Amino acid sequence: MSHNQNHPKIRIENVSYAYDGKPALHDVTLDVPANAITVFFGPAGGGKTTLLRLINRLNDLVEGTQMSGRVLLDGQDIYAPGTDVPGLRRRVGMVFALPLPLPGTIRENVVYGPKLAGERDQTRLEEIVVRSLTQAALWDEVKDRLDSPASALSGGQQQRLCIARSLALSPEVLLLDEPTSGLDPISTGKVEESLFELKQQYTIVIVPHSIQQAARVADYAAFFLMGDLIEYRPGTEIFTAPRDQRTEDYVTGRFG
Ligand SMILES: Nc1ncnc2c1ncn2[C@@H]1O[C@H](COP(=O)(O)OP(=O)(O)OP(=O)(O)O)[C@@H](O)[C@H]1O
Ligand SMILES: [Mg+2]
Repeated sequence: MSHNQNHPKIRIENVSYAYDGKPALHDVTLDVPANAITVFFGPAGGGKTTLLRLINRLNDLVEGTQMSGRVLLDGQDIYAPGTDVPGLRRRVGMVFALPLPLPGTIRENVVYGPKLAGERDQTRLEEIVVRSLTQAALWDEVKDRLDSPASALSGGQQQRLCIARSLALSPEVLLLDEPTSGLDPISTGKVEESLFELKQQYTIVIVPHSIQQAARVADYAAFFLMGDLIEYRPGTEIFTAPRDQRTEDYVTGRFG
């Protein structure tokens, strides 16, 4: 990969994972570069969400699971004993398919996380509001109504508010699981636009809601099929000239 850095931001190393003995990921190895959008795509049940959740230890509380292999963030094993898990989750933010704003105003939604983390300075909180909403490509639409209820926003705006809430904690990595699955094409376009902005500064991993979206946003794309990583290459190559027959069948719509 052509990157002006020696180490990947995230390294998935020989990760296998099972729920109650039922395999969900099989010996997956892949490097996620910084300052790029990496896409995990493939048919339902392939393990995309599972792998995303393993990157910020969201599956810790799921019972009866078996994991082997390592997940490294900046070279550090995030499953090593003594890992600061809340600290990890501040560095690695997650955005889900259904936007779920908190009760309260737009401003309150953005400052909730930073306040919980101990930030009390009003000037700094205000800066966080402006920066996060701007980075999430929502500022222009809400700057005159920061004290209106978040619930009054459209679905697409609520999703960008959820992205802003993650950004308010200044993460290094942003994980997004089908963040635009409920959105109309215009709102989807705005979320994608914000991702292009964000990748200048952050490491982004997204499970797209369609192959078309995967092709639009991917700098790198990983194709998952039934827990196996089939192919992982630059987005410009995998969607136009897939090497594996199974990838080709999927991207040309022959199955899935
Ligand atoms: N909490 C869970 N308990 C038991 N099995 C699970 C759990 N979560 C996922 N699985 C199983 O693990 C496998 C991978 O699921 P996962 O949700 O990671 O796939 P996915 O690629 O995200 O699929 P989709 O495109 O439908 O979101 C599936 O067989 C699924 O049934
Ligand atoms: Mg999923």
